Amino acid sequence: MNPDDEVCLCFHVSRRKIENYLRIERPSRVGQLSECFGAGTGCGWCRPYLQRMFDQASEHGSVEPMPTAEQYAEMRQKYLRKRDHSSGDSPDDNRSSEGPSAEGDSERR
Ligand code: FES
Repeated sequence: MNPDDEVCLCFHVSRRKIENYLRIERPSRVGQLSECFGAGTGCGWCRPYLQRMFDQASEHGSVEPMPTAEQYAEMRQKYLRKRDHSSGDSPDDNRSSEGPSAEGDSERR
């Protein structure tokens, strides 16, 4: 995922915006990322990624590679279809092999 690719597809919040917010504002809770142009306050797809970025920034001061923008958007479409078929579930309940928390979905550089 490139810096200008969107992490929060609902609110078009780029990876760069989130990384800058993490670096400059140094939020103490991941929920504060919602103050970064509303990141994570829509469908919920990006929340596990926001959590991961927050954790990595807290621990290492930087964020590791993520899936490509195309992979990321495709994974979100699967998430939305799955969510629509099982309404009432929270985003965190959908952490299946297709879910955003699946390991090994990071882009290798
Ligand atoms: S992609 Fe971020 S809330 Fe939907």
